[in-house]
Amino acid sequence: MVNIPVLTVEKLNKRFFLHEQETFIPSCDDVNLTVNNKEMTALVGPTGCGKSSVLKCIYRTYLPRGGRILYHAEDGHTTDLAQASDHRILELRKRGIGFVTQFLHCLPRKATLDVVGEPLLVRGEKKAAARDAAADILRLLNVPERLWHVPPATFSGGEKQRVNLARGLISRPRLLLLDEPTASLDPATTERVIELLSAIKAKGVAMLAVFHHPELVRRLADRVVELTPQGAEFQETEEKIQ
Ligand SMILES: Nc1ncnc2c1ncn2[C@@H]1O[C@H](COP(=O)(O)OP(=O)(O)OP(=O)(O)O)[C@@H](O)[C@H]1O
Ligand SMILES: [Mg+2]
Repeated sequence: MVNIPVLTVEKLNKRFFLHEQETFIPSCDDVNLTVNNKEMTALVGPTGCGKSSVLKCIYRTYLPRGGRILYHAEDGHTTDLAQASDHRILELRKRGIGFVTQFLHCLPRKATLDVVGEPLLVRGEKKAAARDAAADILRLLNVPERLWHVPPATFSGGEKQRVNLARGLISRPRLLLLDEPTASLDPATTERVIELLSAIKAKGVAMLAVFHHPELVRRLADRVVELTPQGAEFQETEEKIQ
């Protein structure tokens, strides 16, 4: 079977206006990419070139300035995530699109099991079932059981990252966005994550992932998109337009 596109990004552009300095910060420009089901597209490039911003535009944490972000649903319907209503975006976040962010953001007093199970609760599943599924995935990612009932706020970087991954993987979205998912993991846990991501990919999930490590790109990615740094040249052109 031919792999079908789940996401097509065309000429994506984002910049920020800093009011105090009255200046524009370019964030990403002219980004084009495709993510197919059963495939991983890797987003690479130097620090600050806009990799996280691209993922945030797709998840609509950031509202893009220009370009199209076409999400192709299973029923053949296409939504431009750059234009869609907030309601449609929330609907897609519930079932279609998952995001493992670069840093874990969660409520300070929530137990790890509930942080991880939350995407299932939002989808209407029962609390006990969500906790069982959370326990399964935490076990798979080597998160010690003594941490399951404690809030992840005080966890080490690697522990937090695994909780974040578990939370992103639990609901098996059609499109999974991953921002440096193995950045603070030891080699054994990185290996587990690689196996897990390969298994999820084989099940049909489309993935767009940011990696700094070329070895991970080589082992996991089917396509590579390289972003170029956003420099003074771009800013100059922008200023001329104003
Ligand atoms: N919320 C924001 N407000 C202002 N500027 C921002 C914001 N988010 C990102 N930027 C700017 O956009 C540019 C791209 O940032 P981004 O975080 O996307 O880079 P990155 O490629 O993910 O970097 P890294 O590899 O360090 O994670 C940077 O210059 C950054 O300062
Ligand atoms: Mg980043």
